[in-house]
Amino acid sequence: MWIGTGKGKGGAGCTTAALELAYAATRRRRPDGKRRTVGVLDLDPQSNATDVLEPASRRIGIKDVLAPNDPLPLREVLVPTMWPGVMVAPSSRFLANREADLTPDGIGALRRARITGELDGLVDDVIVDLPKDVGKISATGLLGLEHLFITARATLWGAQGAEEMRFTAQRIASKGNPELRIAGYIIAAYEDSDDAERVKGEMQTRFGELLLDPPVPRRSRVPEALESYHTPCREFDNELIEVADIYQQFYDRLLDDETRK
Ligand SMILES: Nc1ncnc2c1ncn2[C@@H]1O[C@H](COP(=O)(O)OP(=O)(O)OP(=O)(O)O)[C@@H](O)[C@H]1O
Ligand SMILES: [Mg+2]
Repeated sequence: MWIGTGKGKGGAGCTTAALELAYAATRRRRPDGKRRTVGVLDLDPQSNATDVLEPASRRIGIKDVLAPNDPLPLREVLVPTMWPGVMVAPSSRFLANREADLTPDGIGALRRARITGELDGLVDDVIVDLPKDVGKISATGLLGLEHLFITARATLWGAQGAEEMRFTAQRIASKGNPELRIAGYIIAAYEDSDDAERVKGEMQTRFGELLLDPPVPRRSRVPEALESYHTPCREFDNELIEVADIYQQFYDRLLDDETRK
């Protein structure tokens, strides 16, 4: 499955979702009994997902797949990470240059990789961490995806950001990726308050059953686990199993739906 995490507003839990979904995927088994493997494509020049995963090398990465001259095939830039079963196509700040020099061929690179099955036999799932802006690099990611999770905080601007991301995804779907579906809206770092509850209610009205339940609760050890210790929630602290279970549930729903097809 090609799954993406995107948002319309920064700090919405998008990278956290990408990493936790990747980890959740590796806990599931393929029909041959082996654990599923994942390739994380880090499309954000901020490189947070890359930093957490600690790839074996960062010399080459997604910027080389999108390069205007002599681009590398995607499978050649996926490198092993500290997380078993997870590879990453590393990002770097040089990826930001692609916003200016990306060619139409480059924009279609991830879509071609999916359609031609370039990663078959290498990874079972691809998880794309999309950048915040709605530029050409995001379009490259959205053109490749089958399933998009939109992450948001339960704030007014968070909800507006999610809506903007929905419009962007719909625009890209109609222009060049008819397979793209919104897998759901994830409320990240949710804390009960009157205002958060009100916004959650408004999001329910707007997004219907695509607003995923439950929201992911705010736990201060989440940033500690991922950012400081580079460790998925489930392995870091018993308190975070609740958080890991929610992302597992979101991944499982998608995989089980796909398997039933
Ligand atoms: N459930 C949670 N509880 C507490 N903090 C969280 C939770 N989920 C995410 N965070 C923290 O919120 C911050 C933003 O999350 P994250 O980096 O995943 O969002 P993002 O949308 O990728 O941000 P950016 O716009 O920088 O790419 C991070 O410090 C992260 O650790
Ligand atoms: Mg991020």
